[in-house]
Amino acid sequence: MIRNILVPIDGSPDADTALDHAIELARENNAEIVLMCVEPSASPLATRGVWGVTPDMAEAERENDRFYHRVLDAASERIPDDVAFKRVLTEGDPGAKIVSQAEDGNYDMVVMGSRGLGRVVGLLLGSVSRHVVSRLRMPVVIVHAGAAEVRHAARDTQGDDAPATA
Ligand SMILES: Nc1ncnc2c1ncn2[C@@H]1O[C@H](COP(=O)(O)OP(=O)(O)OP(=O)(O)O)[C@@H](O)[C@H]1O
Ligand SMILES: [Mg+2]
Repeated sequence: MIRNILVPIDGSPDADTALDHAIELARENNAEIVLMCVEPSASPLATRGVWGVTPDMAEAERENDRFYHRVLDAASERIPDDVAFKRVLTEGDPGAKIVSQAEDGNYDMVVMGSRGLGRVVGLLLGSVSRHVVSRLRMPVVIVHAGAAEVRHAARDTQGDDAPATA
């Protein structure tokens, strides 16, 4: 019996497709979805600045915060009225936070994308999905966006730096 499904999302096409899959599973099982976003902690390099330029960390953090709120809002809108869901927004190392959320909560499975917004083309799994699937002992469903993923990768190699959040 599947009652609680953890769906970590980062605004990527794979994560969107994972959510679609989770919605189907939730419907069939009358289960609840927990949408989870982890705002990655600022990197030490960003905190120190580069070449003597100190970045506006507070503004960067606000921008980050806005981005993940938008990701959660967009995902919430995709969930039909007959599927129950909650939202979790936290900060830290995404892989570690997803694993502890999954272990500490009462989840039956995790459904997530294979890749995210990372720019390295050609990898099957990103660092977050690899971390989660290698640590958790519960079922983890890893979803590819298919054509959308290919378009995303192709655009990245052309140097367009806007993240795909659609
Ligand atoms: N910050 C995050 N919060 C919640 N879920 C995330 C986050 N980052 C990634 N995920 C989940 O993990 C999946 C795989 O993303 P991952 O970050 O591993 O790949 P990537 O971005 O292509 O690679 P990398 O981050 O290693 O450069 C995403 O589709 C999403 O489901
Ligand atoms: Mg990533």
